[in-house]
Amino acid sequence: MSIQKNLEKLFSLENKVVLLTGASGGIGEEIAKGLASIGATMILCDLDINKLQTVEKKIVDDGYKAQSYSLDIANSTSIKDCVKEVIENNQKIDVLINCAGINKRELCTEVTESTYDKIMDVNLKGAFFLSQEVVKHMINSKAGSIINISSHNAVSMLGGCGVYGASKSGLTAITRAQCIELAPYGIRSNAIAPGHISTPLTAPLWTDKSRSQYLLDRIAMNRPGTPQDLLGIIVLLASDASSYMSGMMYHVDGGCLAGGQPWELS
Ligand SMILES: NC(=O)c1ccc[n+]([C@@H]2O[C@H](COP(=O)([O-])OP(=O)(O)OC[C@H]3O[C@@H](n4cnc5c(N)ncnc54)[C@H](O)[C@@H]3O)[C@@H](O)[C@H]2O)c1
Repeated sequence: MSIQKNLEKLFSLENKVVLLTGASGGIGEEIAKGLASIGATMILCDLDINKLQTVEKKIVDDGYKAQSYSLDIANSTSIKDCVKEVIENNQKIDVLINCAGINKRELCTEVTESTYDKIMDVNLKGAFFLSQEVVKHMINSKAGSIINISSHNAVSMLGGCGVYGASKSGLTAITRAQCIELAPYGIRSNAIAPGHISTPLTAPLWTDKSRSQYLLDRIAMNRPGTPQDLLGIIVLLASDASSYMSGMMYHVDGGCLAGGQPWELS
């Protein structure tokens, strides 16, 4: 078999139906375009159907497959309706990527109950109950891969991100629970912890001179990550190439956890 055929066999997403939340966001759009370009049928889910249809059009115009579905992940009726419609149209979901997420930076001493609930409802509760709904269908197929987009803040903390970090730590705990409870059904679950990626969510950090310098000092590669930097690990975890990988969180952070920029010795 040719090298190309071997690679295709290992990593191909052809005939895979991939449900992606947050699909019109900075990271979501690039994941959607990237996975579609290697054969996945992308099920694009987000709050604003018009934004999704713009992403869908780009994918379809390039000759690949995508469908748009309005979803409010913080609303259980919306979750049930969305998954029902996706199954009616596609009969299965092979891969679920929980990428929708929000943040509001407030100090622990100042966080309001409303901020706390909003962040938790999207980042943790929403991902949990969407997974629960999708898994029912993965169990029928006796196969599936869940990819939870966690964060560097799950293990290291930026000021004002206490609730966000708690939600992402929770998501990695859910990843472990999904791993051990769903393995008997052939379903794997993994998390990805992106470092500091330049997107609309983090624009307030990258557009502020002192904050962006603070971040750069903590990134060994001395640049913000891009959504495209996450694509390789997502292809790996979505495809059969990761058939024995489950329950772990993988950091994609340009050398942030490793220690960032080295100090001057002289
Ligand atoms: N950008 C980073 O540096 C970074 C770092 C670590 C983790 N992350 C995580 O990556 C994911 C994507 O982040 P991003 O930077 O692309 O942010 P983004 O703000 O560009 O995109 C987030 C998307 O989630 C959607 N969303 C919000 N609430 C929703 C809801 N109730 N229902 C459905 N969709 C909803 C938004 O509409 C948006 O399209 C998030 O989970 C975020 O926490 C981002």
